[in-house]
Amino acid sequence: MSALALATGSVNLGQGFPDTDGPPFMLDAARRAIADGVNQYPPGRGIAPLRAAIAAHSRRHYGLDYDPDTEVLVTTGATEALAASILAFVDPGDEVIALEPFYDSYAASIDLAGGRRVGVGLFGPDFRLDHAELAAAFSPRTKALLINSPHNPTGVVLGPDDLAEIARLAVAHDVLVITDEVYEHLVFDDAQHRPLATYPGMRERTVRISSAGKTFSATGWKIGWALGPAELVTEVTAVKQFLTYVSGAPFQPAVARALDEGDGWVEQSRLGLQGKRDRLAAGLSSVGLDPVVPRGTYFMTTDVRPLGYADGVEFCRDLPTRCGVVAIPHQVFYDHVDAGRPYVRWAFCKADRVLDEAVQRLQGLRPDHVSAGRGTAQKRTET
Ligand SMILES: Cc1ncc(COP(=O)(O)O)c(C=O)c1O
Repeated sequence: MSALALATGSVNLGQGFPDTDGPPFMLDAARRAIADGVNQYPPGRGIAPLRAAIAAHSRRHYGLDYDPDTEVLVTTGATEALAASILAFVDPGDEVIALEPFYDSYAASIDLAGGRRVGVGLFGPDFRLDHAELAAAFSPRTKALLINSPHNPTGVVLGPDDLAEIARLAVAHDVLVITDEVYEHLVFDDAQHRPLATYPGMRERTVRISSAGKTFSATGWKIGWALGPAELVTEVTAVKQFLTYVSGAPFQPAVARALDEGDGWVEQSRLGLQGKRDRLAAGLSSVGLDPVVPRGTYFMTTDVRPLGYADGVEFCRDLPTRCGVVAIPHQVFYDHVDAGRPYVRWAFCKADRVLDEAVQRLQGLRPDHVSAGRGTAQKRTET
């Protein structure tokens, strides 16, 4: 979709990358590190100041303590931490329960490990976790739960009831838990992110994964991490060694500084994103696409059926030529494709002028819009 956005000169609300950079002091620290010669292989587990900063961040925000020397691993983005964890713990035939729709790398990593993913639906129109469905998903082959909250693509932030039930089931079935918390700081209104590892019986069975990409608007740096009990982190480290060996040397001291000193910047960024969320939500509503207003992440979802489409893929294929805007169809994140068929994901981590331009172009979708060339095509009537 990003390639299509480029080829058609469209506004790209598809891929989830911000169009503004992270804190200037963090960017300066990376430049300085390169100038100072921090350009060779760093330690396999990551440099000590970054591991210390990751552990301090976890203690400060959630009261969860990890030993920086044995319980923290720096990875090449959350993607590598996820892949290495799945490859470390999932054997052929094992089942991994994950919230569906799934972030796309989950399916690839579980397949690569020879495992089987078992989706538990966060399905529209309300995108709620069904506790009975979750309980029914467990089998004797269940090896791990992979829980992403705040959740991409739905924007759902699991609440205390959901988390307590997930924790209860994980303990009852004695399974491992991998948590993808990359949007941990991107929560809005009164929503709060609480790591599953804070629940009884969970710290000892949970590998917590996050990354600097979303928190500090540096998705291209690919510095992530995994936190967990030493014996689990050692297993993940063994796999990481032969995936990438080490991760981005000059970015590590910069991310360490950002974690230590960046809480104020993160809070401003969160408030800014909340404003962008409301801006895009109002714009989408104005063209007849009432969004499900997310409580976390930088994505929002709309149902395209009010505009006469039955299928989000078809809608997203048409959108660049009809309006010059790109979005992502939900169904690429589903095994149960029908459940995702009518939904489309929009990223709002973009400059206000970009969001406004997108909304202006989308006016071409309004049923009452009069066609006047590109970006203002007539409403399609077939379904
Ligand atoms: C849910 C989720 N997990 C993981 C990632 C990947 O994170 P990273 O870029 O740090 O590898 C993303 C990126 O979009 C994501 O949405």
